[in-house]
Amino acid sequence: MLTKIAVLKQEIEAFSASTRDDVEQFRVRYLGRKGVLPALFKAFRTVPVHEKKQFGQELNALKNLLEDKVNRLKEELADCGDSPAKGVDMTLPPEMQALGSRHPISIVQNEITDIFCKAGFKVADGPEIEDDWHQFSALNFPPEHPARDMQDTFFVDKGAHEMLLRAHTSTVQVRVMESQSPPIRSLMPGRVYRNETVSARANCFFHQVEGLYIDKGVSFADLKQLLLYFAREMFGKKSDIRMRPSYFPFTEPSAEVDVSCYICNQKGCNVCKHTGYLEIMGCGMVDPNVLENCGIDPKVYSGYAFGMGVDRIAMLKYNVNDLRVFFDNDVRFLKQFTSA
Ligand code: DAH
Repeated sequence: MLTKIAVLKQEIEAFSASTRDDVEQFRVRYLGRKGVLPALFKAFRTVPVHEKKQFGQELNALKNLLEDKVNRLKEELADCGDSPAKGVDMTLPPEMQALGSRHPISIVQNEITDIFCKAGFKVADGPEIEDDWHQFSALNFPPEHPARDMQDTFFVDKGAHEMLLRAHTSTVQVRVMESQSPPIRSLMPGRVYRNETVSARANCFFHQVEGLYIDKGVSFADLKQLLLYFAREMFGKKSDIRMRPSYFPFTEPSAEVDVSCYICNQKGCNVCKHTGYLEIMGCGMVDPNVLENCGIDPKVYSGYAFGMGVDRIAMLKYNVNDLRVFFDNDVRFLKQFTSA
């Protein structure tokens, strides 16, 4: 038996492995449950008492040798992986991994979100399937308002509990005001749906970013300053904005915001239709009725809100003149945004 151990020692020392599989097979052959070493330990029981000491020592030394060998081989192979299969030319350049990219709408949405987050806004989320209250009633839409017409809104269920696909992110304003108390400074990006004929300028779904600020003593001047900051971050330091009176049921007064055309620097071009300005969003002071509907006292608090179309800003930014390319998901278009 001593000679057997000596032979085994030589065998083990001489063993070399080139793959992790080799090591595993080696380990199983010697140390596995039905391996050589357990068999020797079994045989050890029948060794005469006076020889037990020497055998025991030899056997333990063999076990240590084996374990060291297995560990060392594993370590050596861990760094370099398995050796290549036969026939693989290791001198060839590696195959390039195709890089994924963010969708241009996501890129622009993240950019908008980052700009407002720097001004202290926190992102809030709401459901895409909504009820009449959050889409219309709480936002001060009179019952006969044309926007309630089925031509604009996709109704999911026209029954007693009318459910619809939200047609603007202003729905999330209501949810935020209902669940939080002022001061509120929320930014609400999301997808919206409208029953529009699909064309170069319109789609049945698109993306908006909504903003809401409610506190004591919030004024229109605060709103204007924030939007000027946004325009300069988004469209360049030289940008200017102008506000035109407008109407939304949920804001009073309301305005439409234009940014100076960053393409022609207000000299006049096709994109701004020679007006020098690009329309980018709607905004206004939150109507006291809306505050009241959402459980906020309009005698104590005031606030502003704004909402912009992400897709429209992405079209301006990337000089895309057909909205549909954003949704065709043609890889040749999308992969242009890889490095962003
Ligand atoms: N909800 C409006 C729309 O979809 C956009 C909007 C306008 C949002 C004015 C606002 C706002 O918060 O104050 O056209």
